[in-house]
Amino acid sequence: MREVAVIGIGMSKWGECWRSSLRNLFVEAAREALKDAGVSKIDSLVVGCMSGGLFNGQEHIGPLCADYLGMKGIPATRVESACASGGVAFRTGYLEVASGASNFVMVAGVEKMTDVSGDQATRALAAASDFEYEAYNGITFPGLYAMIARAHMERYGTTREQLALVSVKNHDNGLKNPRAQFHLKLDVNAVLRSVMVADPLHLLDCSPITDGAAALILCPVEEARRLGKPVIKIRGIGHATDCLALAQRAELTRFEAAARAAEKAYGMAGVGPKEIDFAEVHDCFSIAEICAVEALGFCEAGQGGKFTQEGHTALGGSKPINTSGGLKSKGHPVGASGVAQIVELVEQLRGTAGQRQLPKARRGLAQIMGGTCASSVVSILEKA
Ligand code: COA
Repeated sequence: MREVAVIGIGMSKWGECWRSSLRNLFVEAAREALKDAGVSKIDSLVVGCMSGGLFNGQEHIGPLCADYLGMKGIPATRVESACASGGVAFRTGYLEVASGASNFVMVAGVEKMTDVSGDQATRALAAASDFEYEAYNGITFPGLYAMIARAHMERYGTTREQLALVSVKNHDNGLKNPRAQFHLKLDVNAVLRSVMVADPLHLLDCSPITDGAAALILCPVEEARRLGKPVIKIRGIGHATDCLALAQRAELTRFEAAARAAEKAYGMAGVGPKEIDFAEVHDCFSIAEICAVEALGFCEAGQGGKFTQEGHTALGGSKPINTSGGLKSKGHPVGASGVAQIVELVEQLRGTAGQRQLPKARRGLAQIMGGTCASSVVSILEKA
């Protein structure tokens, strides 16, 4: 297998983008990534999108995106794994370059979620749960994560304040990210006073509904060197799955798919959690970040709340998490989020993350997941 580098990054505007269509969001991000990479042609396109059908009535997204980018004719594949679609697209693009099948691959993610009403968006998202056993009986994603939060609180003594601190931290980071959907200064009280969505989760524990796209250009490391680009290497990628229905899990609070994906990524990179300088993790709800840092081995099972409260995950902490603002503040256009996490890793590793730049960013990790972690991809990137 060949070594693979990320040489280009791009993002569209994120938020409520009423003036942009699904395809235009993709093109905006894709053109920025091509410009950043300094290449005008790609051999192949892989695009992550969770539900163009339910959000926009649009399927068959691969060729549509290739055409509107002015690259009709190239192989173009849409991949779907709910909110992990962007992560699975990244792994697919990585394998395509590593195997020698293609030299320059664009990996993109796109979702346009605000074309439908809030309840229709909730219904579309619920299609990523076990529909027959969960969504059909009325439970939504905020409801499913509320059950995980309640179980974590009862089993480990995690407090409501600790959950709120995840949102406070991620919004603090988002204030330093011009690309974030929400620029809000919060404190714990603001989170606890926000409207209840699904007990114990309030509005400010939840990621929002977002329109947006992100794109990357991947190529072999030797091509990156030939082009004189900063070499950000993909050192490890793991992908794993779990049962969709929470009721079928041995433990509600353990994200088994994330733990397995991490084990594979760490094994491939030859490093462990201690050697990771910073990470972007899937904080679709505050409790999700707490379970994710545990699954990734950054702290012991059950200690994610305490780990957050002690400041380890803050920008100046021992393991900064979600320096971009995470899904909570940056936004969560579901198919694009896994790709945008890689954009943040590359910015940090290049040293171009502006006000949120970490002083010692040499190796970063991204963890994305679908549903209540029925699929997860973990990627490790390193500055060469
Ligand atoms: N964080 C911060 N502010 C938010 C927000 C969020 N997650 N969601 C909405 N807002 C703000 C809006 O900007 C709006 O502010 P304004 O009144 O100043 O304009 C206000 O709250 C009400 O927005 P609205 O769109 O009416 O909220 P809603 O009640 O329809 O939706 C949620 C709120 C939390 C239910 C919705 O964002 C949601 O479903 N989030 C979870 C998405 C999800 O499940 N993703 C997949 C996870 S795996």
